[in-house]
Amino acid sequence: MNLPQKLRYRRYEDWTAEEIAAIKAKMQQSPWHCHYHVEASSGLLNDPNGFSYFNQQYHLFYQNWPFGAAHGLKQWVHLVSDDLVTFKETGIRVQPDHANDHEGAYSGSAQVIDERLFLFYTGNVRDEDWIRHPKQVGAWLDKEGQLTKLDSVLIEQPKSTTDHFRDPQIFSYNDHYYAIIGGQTLQKEGIIKLYRAVHNNVLKWEYVADLDFGSDGSPYMIECPNLVFIDQKPVLIFCPQGLAKTTLAYDNIYPNTYIIFEEFDPNTGRLSGSHGMQNLDFGFESYATQAFNSPDGRVLAVAWAGLPDLASPTDAYHYQGALTLVRELTLKEGRLCQEPVAALAKLNTNASSFADRKSTSNSYHLALTIPANQVSQLCFFASPEKSGLLLTVDTTSGFLTLDRSQAGIQYAQAYGSKRTCQIPQQHVTLNVYVDQSLIEIFVDQGQTVLTSRYYPESTKANGLYLISGLASGTFYEMRKQNGR
Ligand code: FRU
Repeated sequence: MNLPQKLRYRRYEDWTAEEIAAIKAKMQQSPWHCHYHVEASSGLLNDPNGFSYFNQQYHLFYQNWPFGAAHGLKQWVHLVSDDLVTFKETGIRVQPDHANDHEGAYSGSAQVIDERLFLFYTGNVRDEDWIRHPKQVGAWLDKEGQLTKLDSVLIEQPKSTTDHFRDPQIFSYNDHYYAIIGGQTLQKEGIIKLYRAVHNNVLKWEYVADLDFGSDGSPYMIECPNLVFIDQKPVLIFCPQGLAKTTLAYDNIYPNTYIIFEEFDPNTGRLSGSHGMQNLDFGFESYATQAFNSPDGRVLAVAWAGLPDLASPTDAYHYQGALTLVRELTLKEGRLCQEPVAALAKLNTNASSFADRKSTSNSYHLALTIPANQVSQLCFFASPEKSGLLLTVDTTSGFLTLDRSQAGIQYAQAYGSKRTCQIPQQHVTLNVYVDQSLIEIFVDQGQTVLTSRYYPESTKANGLYLISGLASGTFYEMRKQNGR
């Protein structure tokens, strides 16, 4: 939503209790709230931040402007979880209340260091001429939930970048702390800079190199870089804004991509043995994926089921955005697979065979098999006239299409209202999670993933039909999460 800059950057303390209550009251009227995905308790949610395991719990923050559906003065809002399924807001926030993050506590990551959680993030600072001065800054979260910001700037904007320099990801490699930061060169090319903690002290950083990941030079800015290690192989996850569509076909306003490599050299920043750039997600809305190597050996990821610079039907209710389900990342036959964490199964209830499913409440999990040589079409969020979100799974020619042009509130049409991707020309499995206005589709154990929003026009649009072809499997209702 386009709101005046003055309103978006109004200081938090200047919002009255009545204004905040009015925003929340309006939010409550929305028919589209998710039942088991995380949404902002107030206003806009964008990137996941600080995803980590600390003090026997998972920690996850989200970027937030709490006063409406716009990108304004950002803070981090803190969530904890025991199982990566149920998340609870703790009330802890990284607010834009310091000279080094005065115009926003922008995205960043977290690392457990000596019994405390270190938060490494971008302080967005604007001067009186509204010129941006990005500062990479830190804060400590202790086991009692006390948040203490550092006063010093850990990394200043380098001379070689524009004011687009942000989103530090801290990670440990060979027992040493490193950080990668997204940015833009003076020639307006997207880059990722690599830093190392001097003497392994995260309060002191030295520049190592620009990450050499084989960029074609087409992106004008790179946001939210992550480097994780799966089966020892480095996997780079990032958002290359402006990426040439000849390099990688995509339809969304900005892509969210990954590259699997064979080796990482922390002294030169070279990633070698590239398996080529791929889309992380083929749906209408997915961005800013954050992943980390969890101490239990899993590599966990979560994304923003949304995109920058887009309006949403929920804007009228003063909120926008949701987080995806938490996914476990694995490599299978050289491909990145993303599957919802196993614990999600605890939300499955009232299982029935797909053929015997009763009417739905738009909160369900469908585990299906589509046989080979089929063109099977399913309709989600279907009206009594059977119009809704159409999913066509063509195992004859090996294509999958998601079409939201037929029904539902139309928006972001400038980027098309169909998404198509390749699937194997053989039988495929589908795990589909529908949640009121959000759908996540996992094909063949997450080898292909589509995350999308869909806003049904009426509460009667809650049908689920097999329009043509064959599909069999299980239908589960999904349990609602507390407070949602
Ligand atoms: C990505 C992003 C980040 C930035 C944050 C601000 O969506 O633009 O680059 O840190 O959002 O909310």
